[in-house]
Amino acid sequence: MKANAYANLAFVKYWGKRDPRLNIPLNNSISMNLSAARTTTSVIFDSALNQDEVYLGDRPADAKFAARVSAHLDRLRSLAGTQDRARVETRNSFPASTGFASSASGFAALTRAGAGALGLDLDERALSRLARQGSGSACRSIPGGFVEWYAGSADDDSYAEMLAPADHWDIVAVSVIVAAEAKPVSSSDGHLLALDSPFWDARAAQVAARLDTVRRAILERDFDTFGREIEMEALSMHTIMMTSAHVIEDRWQSGVYYWHPDTLDLLVTVQAWRREGMDVYFTLDAGPTVHLMCPGDQADRVRRAVRKHQQGRDWTVMTSHAADGAALI
Ligand code: DP6
Repeated sequence: MKANAYANLAFVKYWGKRDPRLNIPLNNSISMNLSAARTTTSVIFDSALNQDEVYLGDRPADAKFAARVSAHLDRLRSLAGTQDRARVETRNSFPASTGFASSASGFAALTRAGAGALGLDLDERALSRLARQGSGSACRSIPGGFVEWYAGSADDDSYAEMLAPADHWDIVAVSVIVAAEAKPVSSSDGHLLALDSPFWDARAAQVAARLDTVRRAILERDFDTFGREIEMEALSMHTIMMTSAHVIEDRWQSGVYYWHPDTLDLLVTVQAWRREGMDVYFTLDAGPTVHLMCPGDQADRVRRAVRKHQQGRDWTVMTSHAADGAALI
């Protein structure tokens, strides 16, 4: 059984867990599936296998990723009441070396294909809850288009739902991948530090109003309100990250910098482009990539501006419109 799923870009972020074992977040989040970032996964259960076999492209996956996939297959196996091991093949439409996050599309596609292979009759909510346990943000890649994840407080009420279908609004993400180095702290570890930031309470106090504003801006296709709010939100999350003190390799660090110098360069350049009249705002995830959001008819102009500003630097640019949810193929 084979399934496709798309990575998603959060406009209101998931950063901080109420329950790290079940990936129950501290707040709701809102995202859009990204058409350029697709994962295709096939899952075949076979009673003759002694252990799960996990391939990333044509190569066996590394032990850490394979163990995470097996743990997720265990969730599906226990629902289906089987012990059969599986062969899993997963491919991304985007090069792994770009450092583009693939855990959301990966666990959404694995959940959809695995449930299909076992003949499990699960509705979208059940698939979303399951995908969440593989990787929190994966629950938002199960429904299509523009999506809200309801934080809930336990396994059964923490899932994502479509706010509006992919064709509701023609906005585009021009993702500028400025560096492909490994993250200093994985997002799973970073989540656990969020509450240590002295600015956490300020962020928590804003988030309910921000969710209302972003949700309404999407439903009303109000680009400027949307853009202002998502920029402030990205900086709010990075403020938490940069002020989460931790110890890494026995050394104390005052915070986590996911930025590359080119990240900051692009942020101030976006401000300059706006002063020149361009309709463009940025958002960031737990990495150096800058996602430039613009109306669909401005995407060429934004890409040209990026190319001109790039000046020989080794950047990769990916352009996405809103994509559908996870589906069997
Ligand atoms: C910064 O979903 O990767 O992209 O649940 O531990 O797998 P785990 O974390 P993950 O965190 C994503 C964080 C983020 C923000 C977001 O997507 O909302």
